[in-house]
Amino acid sequence: MSQDVAAFDHWIRQEFVEINSALERLYMKQSDPANVEGIGDELKARLEAEGRSLIKALLDEGNTDEGFDAAFDLLGNVGLYMAACRRHEITEPSRETSSPLLEASALAMHIGASIGVTPRFATAHLTTHNRAVNGLYKRFTDLDDEKLFVDYNTKGILAYKRAADALLKIKPLGISHPMTAELLEVARVALEQVIASNQILFDRLDTQAFFNSVRPYYKPYRVGQQVYRGANAGDFAGINVIDLQLGLCFANESAYSQLLVDKFLYMMPEDQRILRDCMRRTSLMDDFLAAMEMRDQPWYQENLAQFLRVCDAHGQGAIQHHDQLVEKYIAQPAKQMETQHIDKVTASGPPLPVLLGALEKLRDRRAAAKREDIRTRFDDIARLRASLEG
Ligand code: HEM
Repeated sequence: MSQDVAAFDHWIRQEFVEINSALERLYMKQSDPANVEGIGDELKARLEAEGRSLIKALLDEGNTDEGFDAAFDLLGNVGLYMAACRRHEITEPSRETSSPLLEASALAMHIGASIGVTPRFATAHLTTHNRAVNGLYKRFTDLDDEKLFVDYNTKGILAYKRAADALLKIKPLGISHPMTAELLEVARVALEQVIASNQILFDRLDTQAFFNSVRPYYKPYRVGQQVYRGANAGDFAGINVIDLQLGLCFANESAYSQLLVDKFLYMMPEDQRILRDCMRRTSLMDDFLAAMEMRDQPWYQENLAQFLRVCDAHGQGAIQHHDQLVEKYIAQPAKQMETQHIDKVTASGPPLPVLLGALEKLRDRRAAAKREDIRTRFDDIARLRASLEG
């Protein structure tokens, strides 16, 4: 790590957190905590200037590349700085046509383009690829609710990845292989762990603290001229690998493939490769449907029963995400927010009702719900279930 890279990393882990936390405490004291205008102007100026000078040194250094991991990590640090500037409205994408953070934009675009990811901070920077130093990983603030949110996002993502890995191992073995039941069991257990972890998040995360002081750091922001959407816990391949391998979603259906196309560059290159590969494969559900004449075979009965349990667990997780997490932490507080700020909830992203509608369709595909307007596996799951004995 060069000296300049180390100095910036040190600042991100110390002063950056102190400034953000101090600003959050000032915002919270107001009767309208969503307002940031005219509050803590000295702190905001310090944040912008200190970050800018550290980043300028890095930009002048030129080639800071010391391999993928170092480059990705540095991109994350620049991204955290840009996201914080957006949160405090030091920058605001609808006010500007190009980011005023010239040095940060230049560095982020240089790194992003060279390693094949978006030039902004992504979920992986805060979760699966967030190195802890002496037990502390990188955060925006020192608020307990932020730590809770990041901890449980990481737990959920890691568990989804375990489920996806197990499902990917089935394809070369085939649905009749004796080990397939075991791999399906691994996937089911991992999905149950997602559900258990999300339930803890739901029980413990404070709605107001999350909505007012955590989520604003995940807003879209401009890098150079372009606005990049906010990071969300879904920006990893595993969740879609599960959708596609189980056969609950279809890569050739435009609404779903649009989602995949939009998220590719928000994922680690390794995840991009996994997902691309998975999009070309057939699903386990189609394999079981094609094998229905073998219904008398013990392997069919055992493996299909296990497969359907995995589908159920995936559907349950999707229902929980939408009906509990999205509803409690996004939809409800948005309804109560001062009308003057409501446009900022979805600034540069789709309007909230559009986003909620899209997430609802995703929930129903994963849960194989009966819907007339979109293709779900409701009928196919019913046929498969009917082929089980007893
Ligand atoms: C996407 C809300 C936690 C998995 C989204 C989106 C919202 C949301 C609103 C749509 C993207 C956007 O914001 O533009 C929340 C809230 C959470 C939470 C309020 C907790 C307070 C989690 C956790 C996981 C997760 C713990 C588990 C890994 C996903 C996935 C997506 C997503 C996979 C991408 C869309 C999809 O494929 O379903 N989330 N989320 N979320 N979230 Fe969460």
